[in-house]
Amino acid sequence: MVKTAVLVSGGGTNLQAILDAMLFGEIKNCEITAVISSSPEAYALTRAKNAGVPAYVVDIKSFPNRRFFTDAIIDKLRDLDIELVVMAGFKYILTSRFTSVFDSRIINIHPSLIPAFCGEGYYDIHVHEKALEYGVKLTGATAHFVTREPDAGPIILQKAVEVREDDTPETLQKRVMEEAEWKILPRAVSLFCEGRLKIEGRVVRILPEKLSK
Ligand code: GAR
Repeated sequence: MVKTAVLVSGGGTNLQAILDAMLFGEIKNCEITAVISSSPEAYALTRAKNAGVPAYVVDIKSFPNRRFFTDAIIDKLRDLDIELVVMAGFKYILTSRFTSVFDSRIINIHPSLIPAFCGEGYYDIHVHEKALEYGVKLTGATAHFVTREPDAGPIILQKAVEVREDDTPETLQKRVMEEAEWKILPRAVSLFCEGRLKIEGRVVRILPEKLSK
């Protein structure tokens, strides 16, 4: 079982998608060992508690800078022997020490089709505001490995979602979550835990399912 921690900052609907998929046996060879929140107020903590998953707060407000905050997150993940880190609506960009320590072992979900509408400043509802402003007809979500540069790591899975004439950032966000994020994130976690992701440069190859004995 791959010991997995989910980093959250807010509502935690992507966390919920992972917890539900675990319950339905859709994620293989994975143990959700911990949920770590950057805020004590995040509703994601209640979701973890309801699922019986240990939840921890590493409060961004208690640290003088990003370096100390990153180090505290790394310490917590190391204490728990975490092998895979999932960023599910985690709002903060951590220092490069984080991506070195957990190289090729961090998965993020982003609410657009990368390389569109991503990078510094593109997060949460703002991504959908920008997509509507630009006038794209298709958007979606991307599950990718995290590297030093924000939202630039190798892509694991993507799913497209149509933009409607009457969409607001809120309606678009909801549809992207329901149709794309909540499907591809649990799938990407399972593929990792099954050992089926092979990174070749910036391309991720998905290996065939292993036959069970
Ligand atoms: C999700 O839409 C996620 O893709 C996005 O924040 C939202 C969190 O929702 N993440 C980013 O924008 C990261 N760049 P949730 O807390 O309900 O899962």
